[in-house]
Amino acid sequence: MTAARRIVLFGGSGQVGSELRTLTWPEGFALLSPTRREVDIGDRAAVAALLAAGDIAAVINTAAWTAVDAAEDARDEAHRANALGPAVLAEETRRHGVPLIHVSTDYVFDGSKVAPYDEDDPTAPLGVYGTTKLAGEEAVRSTNPHHLIVRTAWVFGRHGTNFVKTMLRLAETRDLVRVVDDQRGSPTAAADLAAALATLATSANLRDRSGTYHFANRGETTWCGLAREVFRHSAARGGPSAEVEPITTADYPTPARRPMNSRLDTAMIERDFGIVPRPWQAAVDDVVRSLIGA
Ligand SMILES: NC(=O)c1ccc[n+]([C@@H]2O[C@H](COP(=O)([O-])OP(=O)(O)OC[C@H]3O[C@@H](n4cnc5c(N)ncnc54)[C@H](OP(=O)(O)O)[C@@H]3O)[C@@H](O)[C@H]2O)c1
Repeated sequence: MTAARRIVLFGGSGQVGSELRTLTWPEGFALLSPTRREVDIGDRAAVAALLAAGDIAAVINTAAWTAVDAAEDARDEAHRANALGPAVLAEETRRHGVPLIHVSTDYVFDGSKVAPYDEDDPTAPLGVYGTTKLAGEEAVRSTNPHHLIVRTAWVFGRHGTNFVKTMLRLAETRDLVRVVDDQRGSPTAAADLAAALATLATSANLRDRSGTYHFANRGETTWCGLAREVFRHSAARGGPSAEVEPITTADYPTPARRPMNSRLDTAMIERDFGIVPRPWQAAVDDVVRSLIGA
């Protein structure tokens, strides 16, 4: 029997990383997920030591600074996680000839496009988070020829902090929540993204493909539409729900500007890897059911 090849995951305690750690991997693969305390992705020596240690099939990077508003005042920390760390990972994976699968964001776009964004649309981030994530993408793209950059959007799941959990928490104490209804995007379940990343990491043609791909659940909505869907499923299963009042971005000022449209077109990942996202509403139902214990 041959030893399993390792897939190294950074960001294993996050929303997406936690889902990756619960997956059953195909025979021949084993996941290794160091904590941030064990390996900070901005620490070149630590990353180099880990990658020198064995037969690695792929590195998946879901580590990031994801607090969009807090990033405005934490530029250095956001830069370390979102730009410097990916640059280190790209250099060290290239040194060992290992493919790097790096997760990025819809917030690299400014939202001025009317239609969903394609992979080669021009980027123009509006805040520190998007700017640092774009720098991370550029480092990966220019450094390791064996890379896949997977942009995703509006991630929610069982773990960590996210919009769906916030809505359910607010509905415990409020009858009415006011939610922004003029930003359009592509909600994405962390578990669905994790499954897609696992498919990429274990795909037979991983080394032959390089490039940028979009992955999000199918369909689109606003934050208000997402809140209503959360409460629809929650109420149907006996969980908390609230009335949702639509408001505008101007009614809810935040430190970071967000794109008014950040819908992602996923045709390319479907075509090249056969990964077909399910509708976001079905993903919301699964996550709500698991969060309310129904
Ligand atoms: N959340 C969204 O709505 C969203 C939308 C679009 C794209 N994305 C992208 O999707 C990916 C996954 O997001 P997520 O929501 O799963 O993130 P998350 O829940 O915020 O988790 C971030 C992870 O990164 C780790 N981390 C942060 N800085 C690190 C460093 N310097 N070295 C090593 N690990 C570090 C954290 O470790 P600790 O727990 O130890 O801090 C945690 O495991 C990210 O690339 C993000 O930019 C997310």
